[in-house]
Amino acid sequence: MTPGARAQASIDLLDILMTARKGADDVAGIFFKRRRYIGAKDRRAVRDLVHDVARRRAQLDWWLQRAGVPVDRVPSRARVLAALLLVQGWTESQVAEAFDGGPYRPAALAPEERRAVAALTGRPLAHPEQPSWVSSGAPEWLEPALRRAFGERHEAEMEALNRPAPVDLRVNTLVGTREQALAMLRQDGLHAEPTPLSPVGIRLAGHHQLGAYQAFWSGLVEVQDEGSQILALLLGAKPGERVCDFCSGAGGKALALAAQMRNTGRIVACDVSAPRLERAGRRLRRAGVHAVEQRVLSSERDRWVKRAAGTFDRVLVDAPCSGTGTWRRRPESRWRLPPERLPLILSDQRRILDSAARLPREGGRLVYATCSVLREENEDQVASFLERTAGFEMVPVSEAWAECIGGACPCPDPCLRLSPARHGVDGFFAAVLRRTRARSVATRDEDEAS
Ligand SMILES: C[S@@+](CC[C@H](N)C(=O)[O-])C[C@H]1O[C@@H](n2cnc3c(N)ncnc32)[C@H](O)[C@@H]1O
Repeated sequence: MTPGARAQASIDLLDILMTARKGADDVAGIFFKRRRYIGAKDRRAVRDLVHDVARRRAQLDWWLQRAGVPVDRVPSRARVLAALLLVQGWTESQVAEAFDGGPYRPAALAPEERRAVAALTGRPLAHPEQPSWVSSGAPEWLEPALRRAFGERHEAEMEALNRPAPVDLRVNTLVGTREQALAMLRQDGLHAEPTPLSPVGIRLAGHHQLGAYQAFWSGLVEVQDEGSQILALLLGAKPGERVCDFCSGAGGKALALAAQMRNTGRIVACDVSAPRLERAGRRLRRAGVHAVEQRVLSSERDRWVKRAAGTFDRVLVDAPCSGTGTWRRRPESRWRLPPERLPLILSDQRRILDSAARLPREGGRLVYATCSVLREENEDQVASFLERTAGFEMVPVSEAWAECIGGACPCPDPCLRLSPARHGVDGFFAAVLRRTRARSVATRDEDEAS
């Protein structure tokens, strides 16, 4: 593909992403499937440019406005143009050559665009007059919550959230060891290193078509961020136990739990989304996991929850969240989260936690986790749960870490808070709770009435 054709494909993909209801990865997957003529290297270049636009959109828009380009009329074209100049450092003549209206290339530059290109060429992306939400790359409405979450580390954490993430793998210990996986990947020419925190993690340098490698198609490794691996490990699931993965989704954590449990005992993987659970089923079968039962819930208060109350050794609530911790991998998601959605997410989390809390037996564990960095979804949510719910206590994460993973926990706080700047992983939160006593008769009566 010519550089101009890559730019046009990026504009097309951005246009679709702006109105799509599906996740960005799914949208990009469909986009490239319909354009099989776009080879692997060109796909990577298109994805990188689309990600550059998403990460730096606030700054690009700031510059475009200053250069007198109406971003609202043709946002994707204007932003791609600005990203090529300000992020990728294209020259005026490179842009003019690519935007010439030739086959598969963007239409020729309009006079006001030509003036903007001249004004933006050679400029650094940052400018001292940019407001802090613009330079940090967050939507304006989210900035106060991000500042509250990161405190004095705000700048460093936002910078780290704006960098691309490495590819992390989890070794499926049902199939082999981390040493075997490392040897196999290295033999195939990949640069693979053990991850520093997860004992079953591997970090790859660069991006590859992973399906072509034996370690993948043999089921020895799965793609999973190191932070996500840690959440599953913190539940401390043991062979033979009864475990509930309450928000199981496509089964990433259920797979990890099944490996920890040596494919014995019982995992009940629940979700309100039947398609996601179906996808989980396919992944579980491919990995040879048979200790998992899948259950589609009508809501978090499905009748099954009442029937199964008090019968689980461990319960994982990997709650739906804002996804603010995953911006390294899904940079566009920050622009797809409208302000009015956050209060709805918070009330979903509250209801899910209240209902799932019925499941652990006395002495059993409940881990509440999110891939959000916001305190509102994390520490605040747990504090308010402990305030309104009798019979639970917090297990300090240092204690749970020593018991379930071994060694010293990298977080000084009572809960786990992983971040890209401090730990080199996506932003994750987990609170480990212990059920100290069975539900009272009064609580059971309330359940009956509901
Ligand atoms: C963060 S995702 C889970 C990811 C999954 N655990 C994994 O590791 O692949 C949150 C999941 O919660 C599910 N969910 C949303 N509302 C729910 C509810 N009321 N009860 C149970 N699950 C719910 C969503 O369908 C979504 O799959």
